[in-house]
Amino acid sequence: MTKRAVVIGVGHYLPERVIPNSWFESRVDTSDEWIRTRSGIERRHFAAEGETTSSMGIAAAKAALDDAGLAPNDVDAIILATSTPDLTFPSTATMVQAGIGMTRGFAFDLQAVCAGFVFALANANALILSGQANRVLVIGSETFSRILDMEDRATCVLFGDGAGAVVLEAQEGHGSSDDRGILAADINSDGRFRDMLYVDGGVSTTGTAGVVKMQGNPLFRQAVEKLATTADAALDKAGLGHGDIDWIVPHQANIRIIQGTAKKLQMSMDNVVVTVQDHGNTSAASIPLALSVGQARGQIKTGDLIVTEAIGGGLAWGAVVLRW
Ligand code: UT7
Repeated sequence: MTKRAVVIGVGHYLPERVIPNSWFESRVDTSDEWIRTRSGIERRHFAAEGETTSSMGIAAAKAALDDAGLAPNDVDAIILATSTPDLTFPSTATMVQAGIGMTRGFAFDLQAVCAGFVFALANANALILSGQANRVLVIGSETFSRILDMEDRATCVLFGDGAGAVVLEAQEGHGSSDDRGILAADINSDGRFRDMLYVDGGVSTTGTAGVVKMQGNPLFRQAVEKLATTADAALDKAGLGHGDIDWIVPHQANIRIIQGTAKKLQMSMDNVVVTVQDHGNTSAASIPLALSVGQARGQIKTGDLIVTEAIGGGLAWGAVVLRW
């Protein structure tokens, strides 16, 4: 028998306020046409005043626990992936822990920007396989609207807010790729690329939160190449190939990156869960949001083989292969 970390619940939360592309037309020199054709984004959600990364994380966590049929104290650990924490400390994860009424176990934040959820899944898997936790709530939650320069057309039109969560549980598998659960993970970073995507503020430098700065075009080229490579590496570790994939659930940064990566993986877009048109780039929240929406749409079903992949600031990138 082989221990596996199996997804037993999924949920998400999106703020009520929907911002269409036309909202930006009166603020910066852009157009709905440019945003749609260059990124695939049609609208995104922005958090309301008073809505925070923890409040959205709490809503997504509750939805995932409900889906799993579990109470908060049935979970041993929370890993919350975010680059937009409520406060410098304590961790947003501990705020979610208190907010859902979980009074045991442990909770911590993980920061790998847009790759945060993939890194969090890999780490939750390690906690489960090493016996440190039997059930882990893995959350991605972001309020990127709070770190956007609304005068920088190259970045402000691309990002949105939201949260998604999954519950992972230790279950016994047979050790084959037919098992449900996480079958392999591949995570990477290379700090030499830090200028491609960063925030120009921080606690020990400016004492401010800063705003997003991005070299979009070079990052685009890095993204397609690195996402396909990491997906292949994770598939290799799982002993699987392109033909075994039922769904790619990619980080939702740009439809052209999603299409380019799918092509490299020899997958039809019919087998890719796409939410970028409705959510924009929600950084660490984008994959759990897509998993939750993909299940609700009836795309992802129990037993399907899923490849998730993401890249973001760092650069940090990775992929997880799991059977739903
Ligand atoms: O989640 C982390 C990972 N994020 C990513 O991977 C994002 C990667 N990058 C991208 O998605 C794309 O590079 C963008 C969507 C950001 C840009 O698309 P692009 O095809 O790479 O365009 P570009 O940066 O080469 O810019 C083309 C033109 C430029 O004008 P000039 O220099 O050709 O005159 C930009 O100034 O488009 C201009 N531009 C805009 N025009 C209208 C940039 N932003 C806008 C805008 N509206 N919002």
